[in-house]
Amino acid sequence: MTKIFLCLLLLFTFSQTFPTTEADPTFLQSVKKNPMKLQTEKLSHFRFYWHDIISGPNPTVVNIVQPPVNNKTKTTPTGFGMINMIDDPLTEKPEVGSKLLGRAQGFYGMASQEEPGLLMAMNFVFTTGKYNGSTISILGRNPVFHKVREMPVIGGSGLFRFARGYVQASTHTFDLKTGDACVEYNVHVLHY
Ligand SMILES: *[C@@H]1O[C@H](CO)[C@@H](O)[C@H](O)[C@H]1NC(C)=O
Ligand SMILES: *[C@@H]1O[C@H](CO)[C@@H](O)[C@H](O)[C@H]1NC(C)=O
Repeated sequence: MTKIFLCLLLLFTFSQTFPTTEADPTFLQSVKKNPMKLQTEKLSHFRFYWHDIISGPNPTVVNIVQPPVNNKTKTTPTGFGMINMIDDPLTEKPEVGSKLLGRAQGFYGMASQEEPGLLMAMNFVFTTGKYNGSTISILGRNPVFHKVREMPVIGGSGLFRFARGYVQASTHTFDLKTGDACVEYNVHVLHY
């Protein structure tokens, strides 16, 4: 009996000093009923082609930062410091005129002094079928002259909420003269 009384007294004293979360629940609430049935995570595989178009009347890439001139080497062989913004079409087949599935929006920058190595930060914005409006976010390193480059999927929206996974990029065609590139992307993504 005394123990119970002491406990109650302690509880009362502490609840005066430290207000419980119930008293101030406005900024953080646990979700008791899970509206998304999060236990049914599934793995999806997408393959599409990413077109970085520099030449022609409708380029999908703009250069926003030029690499600084280095007086020591006179040239910057890896383009270190350059940044491009992109709004690149994603198509079903390697032909740029094939079915448009969405766009890759974001930027990439030359982040390596040793070899042409990009830091890529982009969102795949899907515009077809049930994925219309859903996005997947990619952030990773892309050493463009390697056969296969792997980059993490760091999140998503819409049907890709809570997404995680990876992409593998391999160059399909690269025009050394114009800089135009077509890259095959294989996306493996876990989502609900
Ligand atoms: C590079 O050299 C030019 C002329 O030689 C000079 O005007 C310029 O300030 C130098 N730039 C740097 C970053 O040192
Ligand atoms: C995708 O969604 C947008 C905006 O809701 C809509 O305008 C467009 O027609 C949709 N496209 C397809 C192919 O469903």
